[in-house]
Amino acid sequence: MCGIVGYVGDRRAAPLLLERLRRLEYRGYDSAGICTIAEGGFHAVRRKGRIREIACAESLPGTVGIAHTRWATHGAPCEKNAHPHLCGKFALVHNGIVENDGALRASLLRQGAELKSQTDSELIVQMLDREYDGDPMQTLVRVLRRVEGSYALGVLCLDCPGVLFAARRKSPLLVGVGEGECLLASDLPALASEGMQAYVLEDGELAALRADGAEFYGADGKRIQKKPHCTVPREEIPSKGRYPHYMCKEMAEIPLAIRQSLCDLRQDHTFNDVCEVLCQTDYVEIVACGTAYHAGLAAKYAFERLAGIRTDVYLAGEYRDGLPDCTGGECLTIALSQSGETADTIAAASLAKQRGKTLLCITNAPYSTLSSMGDRALVTRAGREIAVAATKSYQAQLAVLYALSLGAARARGRNVDKEYAALERLPDDCRILLSRLGRIGGWAERFRGARSVYFIGKGADHAAAVEGSLKLKELSYIPSEGYAAGELKHGTLSLVDQRTPVVAILTQRQLAARLMNAVSEVASRGARVFLVTSFPEFCARREVISSVVLPETSPLFTPALSVIPLQALAYETALALGNDPDKPRNLAKSVTVE
Ligand code: F6R
Repeated sequence: MCGIVGYVGDRRAAPLLLERLRRLEYRGYDSAGICTIAEGGFHAVRRKGRIREIACAESLPGTVGIAHTRWATHGAPCEKNAHPHLCGKFALVHNGIVENDGALRASLLRQGAELKSQTDSELIVQMLDREYDGDPMQTLVRVLRRVEGSYALGVLCLDCPGVLFAARRKSPLLVGVGEGECLLASDLPALASEGMQAYVLEDGELAALRADGAEFYGADGKRIQKKPHCTVPREEIPSKGRYPHYMCKEMAEIPLAIRQSLCDLRQDHTFNDVCEVLCQTDYVEIVACGTAYHAGLAAKYAFERLAGIRTDVYLAGEYRDGLPDCTGGECLTIALSQSGETADTIAAASLAKQRGKTLLCITNAPYSTLSSMGDRALVTRAGREIAVAATKSYQAQLAVLYALSLGAARARGRNVDKEYAALERLPDDCRILLSRLGRIGGWAERFRGARSVYFIGKGADHAAAVEGSLKLKELSYIPSEGYAAGELKHGTLSLVDQRTPVVAILTQRQLAARLMNAVSEVASRGARVFLVTSFPEFCARREVISSVVLPETSPLFTPALSVIPLQALAYETALALGNDPDKPRNLAKSVTVE
């Protein structure tokens, strides 16, 4: 969360920083700011709102600067809490959370500090100014020893106007070194410049960036040598193309995301290794957050039914807090994340490693923190996902997990030829389904005034229901829940009335009768029922107001399809309500705080 960029070189810093910052807006967009050094002073602009609010900063003088786009953790999104924070000779941008905020704040106040914001980040700049001894790097080292929690920092000091200081602990930060310039950024797309070498700062490391190169330091303040991680890939300027929003473009790319992910696996020897590991595995645990967690829930059925491997799926943020450790037998932990930077998932993955589990990390970002943590790493090839709500990355994750379950099944001598063929057909099935979504706009008109919405399903359909519900909440701000259909009658049915649309998902033939019982129960209470199903015969049922029929596939793979109309419903409802589907309120694409 929060995006950081910094620049030092011979170009004007402000226009470049603003352009790079826009590439990080997915990380947070509630306030933004920029600060340059020129003529012996700081020049800063900070505003509440999106990066466009600081467009006036383009004219700031100077060739050295830092900029920030914020996702508020400590302190409301407002101008005074926006970064950069300035104090005396220092200016600072911060991504992360200072966990000993209370103690540091009390100590600063005791010393008579005048805090201007409610943020934890300002405490660091205040400490820098108080403890400054003429050496900004060593002062930073000393101050950071007292900071608990996570940080990626960009720091300017008026005494060293040609240097940009950086530090990292548990928050991603990259240094780019190019011809006559250096850049600092939270993520690779913001670094991209012809021929730039990218260095990944590791936990505890610091850096001093100058126009002619970068020096790196360990947590003890001593110089270290680092090798570049990669040459920054050529910049792909994100574009919506012919689509009005990134979200609908990314949904249209679902077939490609699945196809490319499967195609890559065929050429990746790690895939075969992992299938061998799975062959010896008694137990799989998947740790993930949000949509990735829902992909894990859906894939559980494939691992268990196809490969016969018991699989549990954990919310990464809950994994460490007292959940029982699996005992007996070989365990593979799969950490699943689109960004590869989700702090909760990273924390769960490192705990799994400490517990001695074999760790497989699956991300959509080959240079991410998570992808370098595992005993093995696989990538999904969804391509960059810019809309905050995950869409194509969900299907790409499912494609990889389904392929693993099939690979494990084969390695265990099971015949899964039929399912293999179904997986190969999945991109085409998605394409056909995407062309059948015309009526979802009509659904959205009925959902826009809803008091709350239920998505119901059983088995793998329940996994799809919770993802559909998350999408709707995220984009329409209408309360909704994904529910196991049979569970409604145990209490929640009391909330259902004529103002409660219910989306029922039915793709499991053996569960049809019981799912339709739940449909009758909610319809009897006045709910309007919308059906997403593999079985056309249920669409004519009198309780069903409108329906979408899915192309035929293996019942284990249906979540990859059934979620598509639900993504479209969330998108259309957001539009009907006048919300921005690409940037829902209060959210950010990459959640790098625990
Ligand atoms: C929902 C959404 C989030 C993410 C979650 C995990 O649309 O995008 O729920 O799925 O924050 O993110 P990653 O997959 O990057 O770990």
